[in-house]
Amino acid sequence: MANDFFFSAHYIELCLAEGVTRFFLCIGIQAKRKNVTDNIILIGFMGVGKGRAARALAAGTGRFAIDTDDLIESFLKTKIRTFFAEHGEPAFRQVEQQAANWVEQQVQGTIISSGGGFFMVDNLPRLGRIVYLHSSLKGILATLKQHPDADRKIKKRPLLQDKAKAKELFATRLPLYRQAAEVEINVEGRKTSEVAAEIKDWLTKEGVVL
Ligand code: S3P
Repeated sequence: MANDFFFSAHYIELCLAEGVTRFFLCIGIQAKRKNVTDNIILIGFMGVGKGRAARALAAGTGRFAIDTDDLIESFLKTKIRTFFAEHGEPAFRQVEQQAANWVEQQVQGTIISSGGGFFMVDNLPRLGRIVYLHSSLKGILATLKQHPDADRKIKKRPLLQDKAKAKELFATRLPLYRQAAEVEINVEGRKTSEVAAEIKDWLTKEGVVL
C-alpha cells in the first residue's frame, strides 16, 4: 500500500548517521516504517507552553500526551525544584538522559512535551519528530505573569528565578533549539488551538498520521 512507504529528510539524516555500509539497509527499513508510531517531541524554553500544546495536539487523536518533567518527578518521587536544590543541575541532566533512554526504548506514537533543557540529551533525533516552540522571552514572562497561578509557575522553575540569568540562558539556547528541531512554530500571542493546528499541518505534510 502506498501509505506504508514513507520518506523524509529526517529519516535520510538518521540513516546517514548509520554510515555508508548500513545506509541502504536503513533506508529500506525506514521506507516501510509505519509513521503512526512516531513520537512527537515538543522542545522549547521554560514556560513557552509545550505541555499545553502537547495536550491540545493529543486531544481527539487517541494518542497520549506525556511530559518528561512529570516522568522524572514520578521516577524521583520528588519535585524537580527540590531535586535541583539537593543534587544540582548536572544530576538532573543525568536523570533527563535516563528518561530519554527510556523513551527511546519504550515509547511509540506519543506526544511528548519536554523540559526546557531536555533537547540536550544525546539521543534526541532517535526519540521522534522534533518540534521547537518559539516565543520571545518577554512574551514567555508576560504569559506566565498573567496566569492565575503565576507564583507557583515561576517558583517551580529553578532556572527562571534570576531574570538576568534566564535572559542569558535564552540567548544561548535559542540557536541550539533551532539546530535541534526539524521545524519551528511561533507561539507568541497565539491560541493553543492555533499552535496545535499548525503542528498538525506540518506533521501531515511529513506523512505523520495523528
Ligand atoms: C529546565 C526546564 C524545566 C525543568 C527544569 C530545567 C531547563 O522544564 O525541566 O527546571 O533547563 O530549561 P519547563 O521547560 O517545563 O519549565
